[in-house]
Amino acid sequence: MKRGMFDLDEMTGRHLDWALFRRFLRLLGPSRGLAVAAMALLPVATAARLVQPLLIKLAIDHHIVPGRMSGLGRLALLLLAAACVESLIGFWQGYLAQGVGQQVAADLRRRGFRHLLQLPVAWFDRHPSGRLVTRLTSDVENIGELFGSGVAASFGEVVALLLVVAAMFWLSPALTLVAFALLPLLGVVLLLFRRRMRQAMRQVRARLAGLNGYLAERIAGVGTVRLFGQEQRTLQEFDLLQEDYRISNFASIRWDVFLFSAMETLAALAIAGVLWAGGVSVLRSAVTFGTLVAFLEYVQRFFAPLRKLSGQYSLLQTSNASLERIFELLDQPTEVPGDTMMNDGAGAVRFDGVAFSYDGREPVLKDIDLAIAPGEMIGIVGDTGSGKTTLGRLLLRFYPPSAGQILLDGRDLVKLDPVAVRRRIGWVSQDPFLFAGTVRENLDPLWRLSDAGLQSLLERCGAWQTVARVGGLQGVLQERGRNLSAGERQLLCLARALAAEPAILLFDEATSRLDPVTEQLVQQTMERVRQGRTLLVIAHRLRSVQGADRIVLLHRGRIREIGTHEQLLAQNGRYARLWQLQQLTFDEPSALPP
Ligand SMILES: Nc1ncnc2c1ncn2[C@@H]1O[C@H](COP(=O)(O)OP(=O)(O)OP(=O)(O)O)[C@@H](O)[C@H]1O
Ligand SMILES: [Mg+2]
Repeated sequence: MKRGMFDLDEMTGRHLDWALFRRFLRLLGPSRGLAVAAMALLPVATAARLVQPLLIKLAIDHHIVPGRMSGLGRLALLLLAAACVESLIGFWQGYLAQGVGQQVAADLRRRGFRHLLQLPVAWFDRHPSGRLVTRLTSDVENIGELFGSGVAASFGEVVALLLVVAAMFWLSPALTLVAFALLPLLGVVLLLFRRRMRQAMRQVRARLAGLNGYLAERIAGVGTVRLFGQEQRTLQEFDLLQEDYRISNFASIRWDVFLFSAMETLAALAIAGVLWAGGVSVLRSAVTFGTLVAFLEYVQRFFAPLRKLSGQYSLLQTSNASLERIFELLDQPTEVPGDTMMNDGAGAVRFDGVAFSYDGREPVLKDIDLAIAPGEMIGIVGDTGSGKTTLGRLLLRFYPPSAGQILLDGRDLVKLDPVAVRRRIGWVSQDPFLFAGTVRENLDPLWRLSDAGLQSLLERCGAWQTVARVGGLQGVLQERGRNLSAGERQLLCLARALAAEPAILLFDEATSRLDPVTEQLVQQTMERVRQGRTLLVIAHRLRSVQGADRIVLLHRGRIREIGTHEQLLAQNGRYARLWQLQQLTFDEPSALPP
């Protein structure tokens, strides 16, 4: 297995954190008011928390040590009140901040998915679906946490730190210096490892996406895995990917744990130092006993937010990686909208010197010149891989031609709105796709036909029996139409194309999976619906295009022969040979017993 295949979206760019962060802030958008409220509550909660050691100091120095009872009860009550305010405001603050985070995540998921739906079809050739799912789920989830547990909380901790430092200085500058003596070490550690932590987080995200992509693909193709007895090998490949993921995840957790331990050690050293220096000062009466107790409390309260900040630092790094991945997706250029003002022409199509290549190197279509009149039926035949499907995809504007142009009713396809173009073309793809949902939702998503109209269409295509079997128009199709046979799926897709009543019908092997009798029924229906419509039929079975006005034979991406069935037979070329070959292989459907 080529490992590189699964590292598709590992980010390498070194984005400026600040730029990412500013962009993140813009995501807050509609929740900005709530976000500000959540932030504004933080200093209040923090102040309520930090006033508590001062109250303790007062109690010790003014009441306990001098032995004065009066007023002690009031101080205790004040302490209780401060604690209550702290937890109450803390609750609302967390509630608001997490709410904003979830809202941001929901908005982002929606935006990401909307963007995905507008990306050119070609883009998806390079981006496996499993990876994209990871971006829209777990990456977005991380970003949701970024506000609630990251930004707002970090802001709170920073405020707490500043207040604590102020209080400590006010109580005793000398002890403060002792407590902070080793702090610069921490700064050095953070600076040194920042880059590597970032890299580790990026890897975690990319590898998780790779793992998900692999899982999604193998689960979809589980039948093939079993068929070839590839369970063992699949497991080995999975293990490789998983091992990569485990290693990078472990690396990132290691940074996390390391940072946490470094912080703990620093805290212990600081407390020991303060206890020693402070104890000596109390004994020398340089500071009061209450001051020392309060100071020790503050040292604890200084390192607590610092510890939390270190955790948030990891979260920030993870979210940074996720932000990069989401923004990278959002920055992909969408399909160019183009002119929506379609002239409702009759469906004339012209290929003018069209060439195309998927990868920019290997040409798949070359010098395609073909003018199709409205109402004409064109058969397209040719070898496997000769470019027939590709020709259809170009017409659907899924890919732009690399040279030449395609004209739809005289207008350059590239300049027309893709949505409007596709609305005018009914397409039955070579591998029919149906969604989980009702028959009705699948066949007539735009709700053009009445139930009766849809039913009669299905009857005419010979698909009603199938639909009746799954419970009529409200019957449920499973994911990808799995509860239907391949031929039944094809029939439904055919009906779906016809239901839209488009000006142009494009059938790519649309009847290849049907039995001869059903195929004949479909042919008759097609004869009827083709009135006033342009019809392009791609087929291997030459009989299905025999009646076409013209037949195009593609060979290695070029038009090799073109003409009516009779003309092509008379030419005695490739088409004639194929015809003779197929006459020998296929039975006459009419010769079948009823
Ligand atoms: N998404 C893609 N990315 C890269 N190459 C592709 C892609 N789709 C098709 N090709 C290549 O383009 C060529 C033409 O493919 P196309 O699907 O148009 O053939 P076709 O005539 O429809 O064949 P078939 O009769 O098997 O359906 C093939 O060589 C194929 O390998
Ligand atoms: Mg094809």
